[in-house]
Amino acid sequence: MVLDAIHSRRNTREFTIAPVSDSALELIIEAATWAPNHRNTEPWRFIVLSKDGAMRKKVAQIVHDWTFENVKNPNPERRIATSRETQQEILDAPAFMYAYSVQGRNDEVTHENYAATACAVQNLILAAHSLGIGVGWSTGKPCLANVGTAIGAEPDWDIVGAFYIGYPAEEQTQQSPAKRAPVNDVTIWA
Ligand SMILES: Cc1cc2nc3c(=O)[nH]c(=O)nc-3n(C[C@H](O)[C@H](O)[C@H](O)COP(=O)(O)O)c2cc1C
Repeated sequence: MVLDAIHSRRNTREFTIAPVSDSALELIIEAATWAPNHRNTEPWRFIVLSKDGAMRKKVAQIVHDWTFENVKNPNPERRIATSRETQQEILDAPAFMYAYSVQGRNDEVTHENYAATACAVQNLILAAHSLGIGVGWSTGKPCLANVGTAIGAEPDWDIVGAFYIGYPAEEQTQQSPAKRAPVNDVTIWA
């Protein structure tokens, strides 16, 4: 039931060591491509960095170095630790990918493309959830470190997120229940 999936999906960053197969990744990316997209631009691009692959290691190192330079923790030990933790989280994720949105011929289309890619990402996450796979969306350090051209993204693509993917660990499933504001707080009934 789609409603159940929508309600039970949670952002997931703690995983078991179980691998995520390429066929599962293909299935969720295929689901992503069924998102609505104005003018049929199919503007989404995904870059999967295979577990233990050279590119994953390279990205983890770039993000490590970016974190060390940019996260200005006054405590030098903490700064080193944060950089290493960030690097390790990328290396440890059973699957890890980036999503980008391509530019349109003008700002209006670029804006539509970005919205369509966000829809594609939600499709991907819900499809993963239906397979028992959790996804952690990040626009933080792995995106801010600007790894795009190093992983084959075109320089003008807009980054939509980095995604940690795997089977949720027990700690994750025991998280306190998520909350949302009531519908009437976010809706004008005119
Ligand atoms: C565009 C976007 C960017 C996000 N970036 C981050 C991030 O950098 N770090 C993080 O921990 N979570 C990130 N999240 C996940 C949100 O924090 C999460 O969706 C929110 O806490 C609500 O929890 P839920 O998804 O489990 O309902 C991001 C989510 C979205 C949609």
